[in-house]
Amino acid sequence: MKDQTILITGSKGQIGTELANMLKTKYTRVITSDIHKNEIGDKDYVQLNVLDKNRISEVIGDYKVGQIYHLAAILSAKGEENPTLAWEVNLTGGLNILDSAVLHKVPRVFWPSSIAVFGPQTPKEQTPQHTVTDPTTIYGITKLAGERWSHHYYTKKGLDIRSLRYPGLISYKAMPGGGTTDYAVEIFHEAIKHGRYTSFVSSDVRLPMMYMPDALRATIELMEAPTDQIKIRSAYNVAGVSFSPKELAASICKVIPDFEIDYAPDFRDGIAQSWPSSIDDSQARVDWGWKPEYDLDQMTQEMIKELKGVKYSV
Ligand code: NAD
Ligand code: SER
Repeated sequence: MKDQTILITGSKGQIGTELANMLKTKYTRVITSDIHKNEIGDKDYVQLNVLDKNRISEVIGDYKVGQIYHLAAILSAKGEENPTLAWEVNLTGGLNILDSAVLHKVPRVFWPSSIAVFGPQTPKEQTPQHTVTDPTTIYGITKLAGERWSHHYYTKKGLDIRSLRYPGLISYKAMPGGGTTDYAVEIFHEAIKHGRYTSFVSSDVRLPMMYMPDALRATIELMEAPTDQIKIRSAYNVAGVSFSPKELAASICKVIPDFEIDYAPDFRDGIAQSWPSSIDDSQARVDWGWKPEYDLDQMTQEMIKELKGVKYSV
């Protein structure tokens, strides 16, 4: 396994930036890729647009790729602003990866889904693994279709594809790329820089969230689990911690007592209100032993410590 070459698409994003570093500690060669140019001459980076199927195939063949982490996507808020682009990148791009993986017999593929597959008729609390999925965003529609495609490629073409429905992810190494849960990262930067934040999600809207170290561990644990333990080939529910902007602000106040928050909800508030408040991840716990480690206050303390130490140190 250690000798397999890994390919990451969308590696310059919020997750890819950190996942690449973690995978480099486990595998001999990690090829990172994104739509952007290779500006620093990194020999293990390739410019790769996931809409270019021939180039995907070329890269997989040239590097004899053994695992793909397909992260390239347009997230929920950007997707509402440009639905055609979201459909193209998320679905056509996803199918290009799946077809190329089958063609080159890539042994294993990871592709993330999202809590965005759920919608207004989904049970809001402890949302079950199998339940109503009626997404109202184009992003959620692409994730739901992607889940069904994943299941199809597993059952009909034998592709070992594995997926998680990530909650909103909180991290300090890279900024998020245009989602609804971005507020929960921006708030930390603003708390440290200006001591205040105006939230585009209203005060009491609770969403499922997860601190990046938990998300990276969930990803690796899923990908390393023995095949017979993977019972869901669409995407697993995974939970970390749920909170509202008001609850997150209260947690930040424990570290930065003068921190203030106010609210100016925009269209992203409507998206947030359509998503669950908490997730039942019991199937992931039973099948491959998933368990989150961070609670809200632990995450807050570490985010502020790391951001103050690295990004905003003077
Ligand atoms: P991000 O927006 O930070 O990064 C996505 C990357 O994809 C960017 O670097 C972008 O340049 C790249 N990209 C866009 N179009 C491309 C194209 N045509 N070809 C190649 N690259 C392209 O997103 P992220 O937060 O790192 O998310 C990664 C994956 O995880 C996505 O599938 C996303 O839906 C999923 N996810 C993320 C979250 C979260 O909170 N971050 C939650 C649920 C699911
Ligand atoms: N964090 C993502 C978003 O808000 C959810 O998949 O778009």
